[in-house]
Amino acid sequence: MKIEQLTLRNFRNYEQLTLTPHEGVNLFFGANGSGKTNLLEAIHYCALGKSHRVSGDQSVVRIGQDFALCGVSVRSSGVRRDLTVRLIPGEAQKKVIQLDHKQIRRFSDMMGCLQCVIFSPEDLGLIREGPSLRRRYLDMMISQVNRGYFIALQQYRAGLEQRNALLKSLKGNSRSGVSVLEVFEQAMSGPAAAIVSGRKKAVDLLSGLAAETYREISGREEEIFQVGYHSVFRDSEETEQDFLRLMAENREEDIRLGITSAGPHRDDLNLTLNRRSMKVFASQGQVRTAALSLKLAQMKTLRRMSGEAPVLLLDDVMSELDRERRMRLVREISDFQTFITCTDESDLELDRERRIYHVSAPDGFACLEETNSGTIQTPANFREPDFS
Ligand SMILES: Nc1ncnc2c1ncn2[C@@H]1O[C@H](COP(=O)(O)OP(=O)(O)O)[C@@H](O)[C@H]1O
Ligand SMILES: [Mg+2]
Repeated sequence: MKIEQLTLRNFRNYEQLTLTPHEGVNLFFGANGSGKTNLLEAIHYCALGKSHRVSGDQSVVRIGQDFALCGVSVRSSGVRRDLTVRLIPGEAQKKVIQLDHKQIRRFSDMMGCLQCVIFSPEDLGLIREGPSLRRRYLDMMISQVNRGYFIALQQYRAGLEQRNALLKSLKGNSRSGVSVLEVFEQAMSGPAAAIVSGRKKAVDLLSGLAAETYREISGREEEIFQVGYHSVFRDSEETEQDFLRLMAENREEDIRLGITSAGPHRDDLNLTLNRRSMKVFASQGQVRTAALSLKLAQMKTLRRMSGEAPVLLLDDVMSELDRERRMRLVREISDFQTFITCTDESDLELDRERRIYHVSAPDGFACLEETNSGTIQTPANFREPDFS
């Protein structure tokens, strides 16, 4: 899968940009704050309909403007598709998505059109921090190749929100409203089962790839990295029924707490090195290797699941790695279209064909200059996509 064109309008510090990237490596270098991450963020936005940053959504609209737009033309299995996402924060339907110039109603219809994996220094949090980052990692991976999974996630989340709101209002008054809780639980049970089954399958594939990748990057046969799926339904044969049973069992306690205390929204990945918890025992170097292995395994899992190579986004990760790990990473990603940001061009020794861009923001507006040819990638004849 390759991005043939990227179009931005009022996206962060980009007023407008039309970029025709290389099908191999695209390297963006420039000072801090020039707009390198913003560019990768836009690609991520096109793949998943949202930012990879916590500060996401509203803040991507360029200050003083009332909409932001990002779009890609993607070639996959010989077919070209055009996707644009327009974000209009002031309006009820905040995001307008067009696929092949026709507006689509549901996010799920854009999923998988562009698949990407983003590597960033925050990946260390996958090992060091709480379960929500690991769930997000799994969900983003599976959603990109399994539309049904993405829909199940949306339905489950909606049900969970309703159940939690009702639990809060029932606090101290547990008798009334139970039948409504049951209605929500029924609606959540199918999606819950689909989520658990999707995660099981993905982790089965992921765990072998992650272990293998860890061994390769660390060069240490004696260090065994294991990734397991941690869920109350891990070994369940009938997740739907088990989910309903769990909800019924926890109901009184959930009403007291005002929150749904168990379910797929509490799942986690178990990460161990030689059977010891990585979070507790791993050294800084081991954490780095594990985080990188998880990301590389994510990209390989995506490729296995969809038969397509995802686009890779490497945000400032090269300078974080020692030379050895860098070389290994470069070897691993050799046949993927890749977008790499770094502060210094010399951060990267590559023997692959590549295109190098210098990113600067002379008066607050990001500007890209292709250094091989001197082409500036903000043509005056920029044409805004037709939204009529
Ligand atoms: N909504 C926005 N409107 C205008 N500029 C923005 C907006 N959001 C962020 N910026 C600017 O983008 C720059 C940061 O870009 P970023 O891509 O993160 O930099 P880097 O090149 O270091 O990765 C900052 O100068 C910031 O002020
Ligand atoms: Mg950055």
